Amino acid sequence: MNKFLFAAAVFTAPFAATLAHANDEALFGEARKVATTLPPKLLVALQEEIARTGAEGAISVCKDMAPKMAGEVSQQTGWKIKRVSLKARNDARAIPDAWEQAALEDFDKRAATGESPAKLEKGEKIGNEYRFVKALPVQGLCLSCHGPDDKLKPAVKSSLSQHYPNDKATGYSEGQIRGVISVRKAL
Ligand code: HEC
Repeated sequence: MNKFLFAAAVFTAPFAATLAHANDEALFGEARKVATTLPPKLLVALQEEIARTGAEGAISVCKDMAPKMAGEVSQQTGWKIKRVSLKARNDARAIPDAWEQAALEDFDKRAATGESPAKLEKGEKIGNEYRFVKALPVQGLCLSCHGPDDKLKPAVKSSLSQHYPNDKATGYSEGQIRGVISVRKAL
């Protein structure tokens, strides 16, 4: 390599790396913003509907309203949004792919060793996509539909078994990770 090329390589390589790093950080921030818009809105909708019609009446909030809201945020932001879990309730849309599964398993391990589930998140550029997942911890409110089988109201149980014959999403306790919200965008 001649001297000029060598100098050019030495000076531009770190600069390019810094730019790539800044770009990844911007994507991480953008993905996190998209991923965190939905859960608080859903929580409020769940609280309201449970107070009005009971947990059995609020099932449609998670079943119909959550995917509808995710679709709206996708349209506004250009990020695709899903919720996936190692113990899926809706096996048509909540089965993780390999990357999500690895993140879910890692989050479970980290939560078991004392990390706060609410802080677990991961962002990564994979091929021509940016992907991000954030853990969804089980709170008291979630237990009326995701808690131990023998604690669920009969009306909730029968509605769940009717809509989700392969439901694996019961038996949780507070503080466990119910799943992740997963967002991705083509770059
Ligand atoms: C009123 C009942 C109800 C409550 C309360 C509830 N969920 Fe759900 N949850 C459901 C139903 C029904 C589905 C299936 C939605 C679908 O068809 O996509 C679901 C699906 C999910 C999924 C998607 C993955 C899967 O297994 O299908 C996650 C993640 C989730 N719930 C997390 C939570 C969390 C966290 C809370 C508490 C903040 C919560 N849920 C409270 C009924 C409930």
